Amino acid sequence: MVQPKLEGKVAIITGAAAGLGEGIAQVYAKYGAKICMVDLSADVDRSADKIREMYPNADIVTVVANVADKDQMIAAAGTTVDAFGTIDIACCNAGVCQLAPFERMPDEMRDFHIDVNIKGVWNTCQAVVPHMLENGGGAIVIASSVTGDIVADAGEAAYAMTKAALVGLTKCLAVEYADRNIRVNCSQLGYARTPMVEKMAVESNPDDPESAINDIAVGVPMKRLAKPTEVGELFAFLGSDEASYITGAQVVIDGGSTLPETMSIGTN
Ligand SMILES: NC(=O)c1ccc[n+]([C@@H]2O[C@H](COP(=O)([O-])OP(=O)(O)OC[C@H]3O[C@@H](n4cnc5c(N)ncnc54)[C@H](O)[C@@H]3O)[C@@H](O)[C@H]2O)c1
Repeated sequence: MVQPKLEGKVAIITGAAAGLGEGIAQVYAKYGAKICMVDLSADVDRSADKIREMYPNADIVTVVANVADKDQMIAAAGTTVDAFGTIDIACCNAGVCQLAPFERMPDEMRDFHIDVNIKGVWNTCQAVVPHMLENGGGAIVIASSVTGDIVADAGEAAYAMTKAALVGLTKCLAVEYADRNIRVNCSQLGYARTPMVEKMAVESNPDDPESAINDIAVGVPMKRLAKPTEVGELFAFLGSDEASYITGAQVVIDGGSTLPETMSIGTN
């Protein structure tokens, strides 16, 4: 019998109460990982219950914590180790996105993105790395984005800046820990339908947010947004031993959205 790819692995997943984090947790449970679901929102318990209903053997603990607070993340890593003995994989997924014209974007909005999107991943990595070193290795998967490093839309200055920064963090940590068996990779997602994207659609077209979502799909060669579990499959692969020689990689998962050079050539 083929062993599920994450059997015996312990993973901590941030931002797991909704959207992609919930999708990642669902796929990790499917593949047999023991998981600690971390979120700012107490809804994380409801998400964990949903996953337990789908996978009754799933081993899950939940922690309400703010990734922007290093002490809370050190405590969350401690809870994971207390529950399951170690940490093999960290999915640094929690992130925020608010839109505003650059010339009117308040410094507080900029700093909010830096605190959650950059320092939150930094804190999560610093909280888990000592356990991974003690354990002889591990894998970190960071949720960057195509936004910032490859493409950007107006209003995304703070978000794009912070997501591009995560590519630099990924590469440095990958080099720094390569000889100690910790792999570090990042995902670069186009669009998935999550509460974050539904909120962006409302901000972009308050009268008809659904048309804003449909318009995203029109620009994607595959003509649809990603499902959170499709992103979960990538996180599962990068976290698993199947990716044992992959480190420092930026993996685009976007249905081809960053590929077209024009919207007009070769269409007839
Ligand atoms: N949805 C997309 O299309 C898309 C595209 C590219 C990258 N991403 C990235 O993927 C990640 C998840 O996105 P999503 O669409 O699922 O977002 P979402 O807003 O739908 O869900 C994010 C979850 O993270 C939690 N969270 C927010 N701030 C937190 C904090 N400070 N501490 C702990 N938890 C916190 C929220 O409570 C929520 O449960 C983000 O890093 C985002 O930038 C998303």
